[in-house]
Amino acid sequence: MGGTNPYIKAPKTKLPEKTYKIKFLNLNKTVEVDPKKPGHGTGLPMSVLDIALANGIDIDHACGGVVACSTCHIYVKKGLGSCSESAESELDMLDLAPDLKTNSRLSCQCVPNGEEDIEVEIPSWNRNAVREGH
Ligand code: FES
Repeated sequence: MGGTNPYIKAPKTKLPEKTYKIKFLNLNKTVEVDPKKPGHGTGLPMSVLDIALANGIDIDHACGGVVACSTCHIYVKKGLGSCSESAESELDMLDLAPDLKTNSRLSCQCVPNGEEDIEVEIPSWNRNAVREGH
């Protein structure tokens, strides 16, 4: 399941124009993002979730990336300033997420613009789901 929510206005995003890296800290895996290579087709185009899934990193995404859950919660540890701003719909869903922090994002809504490398952490309560490939 994947896509975007037709009932909410898509937030404004700036797509990357050059190659950059996303480091998934607790998986010890770094993905080089090629702006010419499409993502998985889940969540906003070129969102962290879209890129992760396209590279075999299965972050939990119960609603399929349509801002209707908070299972794709991540912490952006580095490069948050280069990520798209959170829309109201994302903030509403993040309010329901456990362990909310100032650098919390929904990975299906977080679109880095590629101006710097970023580092993300998947919360511990979601790590088992990643490891087991749910
Ligand atoms: S997958 Fe449900 S909000 Fe991101």
